[in-house]
Amino acid sequence: MCSDQASKDTIGKAYTREEALQLDGSDCLRHLRPEFIIPTKDDLRRKTLSSQSTSTEFQEEFCVYLCGNSLGLQPRRSAGHVSDYMKAWATKGVLGHFKAHQDSTIPPFVNIDDVAAQQMAPIVGALVSEVAVMETLSANLHLMMASFYRPTEKRYKIILEGKAFPSDHYAVESQIRHHGLDPERAMILMEPLDSDQATITTSQVMATIDQHALTTALILLPGIQYYTGQYFDIRTITAHAHSHGITIGWDLAHAVGNVELQLHDWDVDFAVWCSYKYLNCGPGAIGGLFVHDKHSQVDREAIGNGHEGYRPRLSGWWGGDKATRFQMGSHFVPIPGAAGFQVGNPCALAICPLLASLEIFAIASMPAVRSKSIMMTNYLEELLQRSTSTATQDGMEELYWIITPRSTAERGAQLSIRLQPGLLEGVMMELEEQGVVVDERKPDVVRVAPAPLYNTFSEVWDFVAIFDLACRKAKSKKTNNSQGSGLLGGTEDKGWSLIK
Ligand SMILES: Cc1ncc(COP(=O)(O)O)c(C=O)c1O
Repeated sequence: MCSDQASKDTIGKAYTREEALQLDGSDCLRHLRPEFIIPTKDDLRRKTLSSQSTSTEFQEEFCVYLCGNSLGLQPRRSAGHVSDYMKAWATKGVLGHFKAHQDSTIPPFVNIDDVAAQQMAPIVGALVSEVAVMETLSANLHLMMASFYRPTEKRYKIILEGKAFPSDHYAVESQIRHHGLDPERAMILMEPLDSDQATITTSQVMATIDQHALTTALILLPGIQYYTGQYFDIRTITAHAHSHGITIGWDLAHAVGNVELQLHDWDVDFAVWCSYKYLNCGPGAIGGLFVHDKHSQVDREAIGNGHEGYRPRLSGWWGGDKATRFQMGSHFVPIPGAAGFQVGNPCALAICPLLASLEIFAIASMPAVRSKSIMMTNYLEELLQRSTSTATQDGMEELYWIITPRSTAERGAQLSIRLQPGLLEGVMMELEEQGVVVDERKPDVVRVAPAPLYNTFSEVWDFVAIFDLACRKAKSKKTNNSQGSGLLGGTEDKGWSLIK
């Protein structure tokens, strides 16, 4: 299934589980699933970490994990990298900073951030010098705004979404206050124009930029919106912001490792991301940032003549020139590039799982990841749609609908599904019972994200079967509770429409 057209034709007809298994058989990335530890249903159920204490019928059965948009699964090789870190520290002490070891999977600690940046650059479409691996997304966002949000009397506004991820909202609000400005005036919050839609169109973003063109200092948007799964048109919006002389930064939490980014070519000013979602590096994993090369040059001559010679920033010694870093001087000269925005020593331990994960991405390549991702998400959409349309043809109500854009160019792996009010709790309980892991956003949205590195088409098939039934069960229960008796029109008995 390496050709897109062939896959579209096959996917369109793969309505049975056997056909889903056939799709798995021709999946170009199937050799990478064993790189990951997939929890079994038993793993999820038992109350201990160790598997020795219980043994149930589910011991061998893998769960259906479609939650890589929240926390990606653990690559097998990450434990080896972490263990080598522990060994290097244990056996070499401070020498581990500088000495390479033949049998180690990780580089010396002093270079580990550079190696990670090198491997990260192709994933975001950046020059190596434009990437730094450091801190967390929120901390990086503050560091970037400290450098890129320089409000003046005329240009002081920041445009963002009304429903931005809360951390982004707080960061923007606090930066505005930090400059002694009023968030009421300086924050321009975009809300969806159509109350039935949760998404914000490119034309709306452009119109908002036009409206505030002369007074806006910065725009902050998500590459992929965490709630709706909408993939913003980064290239077009960035070009439009620049046509008005406005700086633009992107929160790529849900885009990195998910879609093919070309941050350098798209002329993005800066971007920040975390590594625990599609990058599979573990809870709270070290984050990353991109600074376009045009913003990170260091003019040594100007510095020599008493001028600043580089973009202002909040500085720390790890952003300082490597050649002089250990001379312990008090005159800061940044490393040219994104590395010059680092502040303190990056946590080498935190970089180990990142290196492990990036090795897998290097084997897979982002074009192949995206290509499979498009197929899987289209497949998920197709099965969900078929399921609801079969149900409505049978005279049943529509219990859920997809709020993520339908065009593949406007979404990544994730589909956000809105349920009829009052069903979420029942549906999530049933999914848990069946060993299906997705995530919820109250009051009524379920986010589902097949991750191409480890998920299979048959898991997508299983998910839709279980989910559809869970929705009907929850609806039936809700109706029974409100009516006091009887099942609603036998919805539960009809089971899952795709099985027919
Ligand atoms: C879209 C988005 N932005 C920002 C964050 C905050 O990231 P962190 O807690 O790593 O700073 C998250 C975390 O999930 C996120 O999803």
